[in-house]
Amino acid sequence: MTILVTGGAGFIGANFVIDWLQAYDEPIVNLDKLTYAGNLGNLAALQNDERHTFIQGDIGDQPLIERLLSEHKPRAIISFAAESHVDRSIHGPEDFIQTNIVGTFRLLDVVRGHWSDLPLNQKSNFRFLHVSTDEVYGSLGPDEPAFTESHQYQPNSPYSASKASSDHLVRAYHHTYGLPVLITNCSNNYGPFQFPEKLIPLVIHNALARKPLPIYGDGQQVRDWLYVSDHCSAIRTVLARGTPGEVYNVGGFNEKANIEVVRTLCDMLNELHPAEPISSIASHHELITYVKDRPGHDRRYAIDATKIEAELGWYPAETFETGIRKTVEWYLDNQTWVEQVISGDYRRWIERQYVEVIAVRR
Ligand code: NAD
Ligand code: DAU
Repeated sequence: MTILVTGGAGFIGANFVIDWLQAYDEPIVNLDKLTYAGNLGNLAALQNDERHTFIQGDIGDQPLIERLLSEHKPRAIISFAAESHVDRSIHGPEDFIQTNIVGTFRLLDVVRGHWSDLPLNQKSNFRFLHVSTDEVYGSLGPDEPAFTESHQYQPNSPYSASKASSDHLVRAYHHTYGLPVLITNCSNNYGPFQFPEKLIPLVIHNALARKPLPIYGDGQQVRDWLYVSDHCSAIRTVLARGTPGEVYNVGGFNEKANIEVVRTLCDMLNELHPAEPISSIASHHELITYVKDRPGHDRRYAIDATKIEAELGWYPAETFETGIRKTVEWYLDNQTWVEQVISGDYRRWIERQYVEVIAVRR
């Protein structure tokens, strides 16, 4: 038995592959295009592990997918591959349309052909698990109830619109062709190997370099935070026990305003990595800098994860306090990894996204 993972050199995918091979002996074929966000260094721990086969390629490359399916005959596909950063989708939506919509469609269509030719018992046991996001549901007011699986889709950014489209395609392949799909919609992840363009690793990276910590708008936007290994365990649970055709929301029960997250990171860095006496700052809090807001910035996301808990018995193991401490410690211990992933492309992105904004210190 084998599973096929796409996007397994990215943040969540790499954590999933590593955790999977720690939990089970079942081999993994890992297909990843290695965009700026994919990094083989994330998988260094598996270098000599014969259960892991890495293939560089695109989910939209149908001949390649056909070959992988007929060679490896996976019993399941878990698809993480996507363009994932909202700010990049605002600057350049095209890649998001190509990978998240067209790529998912092409992958799905080859998988459907392969699945329809399987013998009956393999056909009913086969699974296609599509990893998606809470952002497809849009933005909540402060007192509105959290997103359930039946919440209306109202995506607001090119990223979330592209993910919503892919969710609809996956759903349609179940409804129309009977493909045994599962969809998970998860809240904000954090933890090891997250690319330092996203809020938490960006703030840690900038704080260590004594650079401004950019807070979009008033910093009161709310996100629900989930430690990445808990997301991975939720996906394993849904894969093992979820009902084909069903959607499962995954969340961390940790709603926090962005400014609160950044202040917690500053407190933790003050404790674990105090500023040297020579430094111009006494506390990392001094680096907090309010900048121009993200266009169309969603105000609040919140996940109602009752279904996955009640039906499948999944609940996160980490609290925000335990998860954020592990994360800061990981980044402090893995500065070489950070240096390796911040290429010329990363520097160009940071200049484009942050240097042009007028920083207003409050
Ligand atoms: P990431 O950007 O860190 O990694 C994405 C990976 O996909 C990279 O390794 C990249 O090389 C690969 N990839 C991109 N385009 C590809 C293509 N056309 N073919 C093959 N591989 C390709 O993203 P992430 O944060 O690990 O997110 C993984 C998935 O989880 C995404 O689908 C995302 O929408 C979803 N998700 C993320 C979060 C979060 O907080 N990060 C939360 C909920 C859901
Ligand atoms: O909700 C799940 C989603 O979470 C995933 O689907 C996305 O792939 C993932 O990138 C993440 O999206 P967000 O936009 O919520 O994550 P990000 O880390 O970019 O931003 C978190 C919040 O922090 C958001 O409200 C914007 C704000 N922010 C972000 C950055 C990068 C800042 O205030 N300053 C920043 O510099």
